[in-house]
Amino acid sequence: MASEDKIISWICRVTVITAFFLIGFIIGWFARPTTVNHGHASKSFLRDFLDEMQAENIKHHLRKFTRLPHLAGTQQNLDLAEQIGAEWMEFGLDSVELVPYDVLLSYPNKTRPNYISVVDNLGNEIFNTSLAEPIPEGYEDVTDIVPPYSAFSAKGQPEDELVYVNYGRTEDFFKLERELGINCTGKIVIARYGKIFRGNKVKNAMLAGAKGIVLFSDPADYCAEGVEPYPKGWNLPGGGAQRGNVLNLNGAGDPLTPGYPAKEYTYRSSMEDAVGLPGIPVHPIGYDDAVLLLQHMGGPLPPDNWKGSLNISYRLGPGFMDRFKQNKVRMNIHTNNQVTRIYNVIGWIRGAVEPGDITSSGLF
Ligand SMILES: *[C@@H]1O[C@H](CO)[C@@H](O)[C@H](O)[C@H]1NC(C)=O
Ligand SMILES: *[C@@H]1O[C@H](CO)[C@@H](O)[C@H](O)[C@H]1NC(C)=O
Ligand SMILES: *[C@@H]1O[C@H](CO)[C@@H](O)[C@H](O)[C@H]1NC(C)=O
Ligand SMILES: *[C@@H]1O[C@H](CO)[C@@H](O)[C@H](O)[C@H]1NC(C)=O
Repeated sequence: MASEDKIISWICRVTVITAFFLIGFIIGWFARPTTVNHGHASKSFLRDFLDEMQAENIKHHLRKFTRLPHLAGTQQNLDLAEQIGAEWMEFGLDSVELVPYDVLLSYPNKTRPNYISVVDNLGNEIFNTSLAEPIPEGYEDVTDIVPPYSAFSAKGQPEDELVYVNYGRTEDFFKLERELGINCTGKIVIARYGKIFRGNKVKNAMLAGAKGIVLFSDPADYCAEGVEPYPKGWNLPGGGAQRGNVLNLNGAGDPLTPGYPAKEYTYRSSMEDAVGLPGIPVHPIGYDDAVLLLQHMGGPLPPDNWKGSLNISYRLGPGFMDRFKQNKVRMNIHTNNQVTRIYNVIGWIRGAVEPGDITSSGLF
């Protein structure tokens, strides 16, 4: 929760500071006046280095590595790792190795899609959220695009009334339970993305007794004024859903080998003892689907700062109103956890002074 956010923001800060330090160090290293016979070489290194720092080059590399899907643990992901290694060798690094780890990952079931539905009193699914995002122009031939899913979600098909919980923060649940008198026990909650890590929203929902949580991106948080949605502009389109893991690891790393490298010699917990896995189904949707789930909700109006920018009243629930009162919401989640091999790409530059040995395997 708040302390985890602090830790994450602290880690981000340390990472940023470290990155700046490294960049400064590299620039300083190449800019440093050295001995006579190396002086010219250093100057041209610095020039080469700075010449590489161009928006056009960054765009080219980014495009190369993002053009095709490359979900962790897939063949495409390994292909890119090998490509990075090959390019590093081309750039003149002395050696490169791919260091394997066997970590718990999470994938949707390819034959049994995840979705949320509205169910009538006869049990018919009268509305289903979309199974995939609309494919933008130019991507029609791209296969293996993973549909929106919350990695490491529990499996299940819980069905109940919906409660709107704003950002799903601790203070949001406090307000809901203590001031507004709404009980989330046994309900399915719907939270907007933003403010805190999605895994903490899931944890808070579990603590509140919810049996499922739907996450959506509200235009209030993900669209800038005066900008068109993608592909015309860079705003989030209504069909776009945010993917990502919903673990609560507290820095443990891999859920089955917490605190240790996920190697073959490491003690591996059973799935029952895995760290950080949520106990309830979780699923992300875009705002085009969210508006259809939220628009008929009943219950009290929310505090003003709980309202996003969809053209609806953001009623809290529980459940729908008027002629929709009998309807419930059902989550259909069939995502699987699976131990899968992934790789770190490690590149080596042999030092000029006290170079040491480039025999690293023992180190990792
Ligand atoms: C995926 O769903 C199908 C049923 O549609 C099932 O037979 C299969 O076992 C599931 N796969 C996994 C890995 O759970
Ligand atoms: C929702 O999906 C289920 C399962 O595929 C299907 O039976 C149902 O007819 C769908 N409902 C709508 C409104 O498309
Ligand atoms: C919330 O609902 C659950 C189950 O219906 C009940 O056990 C619990 O006491 C309720 N909590 C409050 C604060 O009313
Ligand atoms: C918002 O919804 C109301 C009621 O459905 C409708 O009358 C109004 O035109 C909508 N406003 C916008 C900006 O779409």
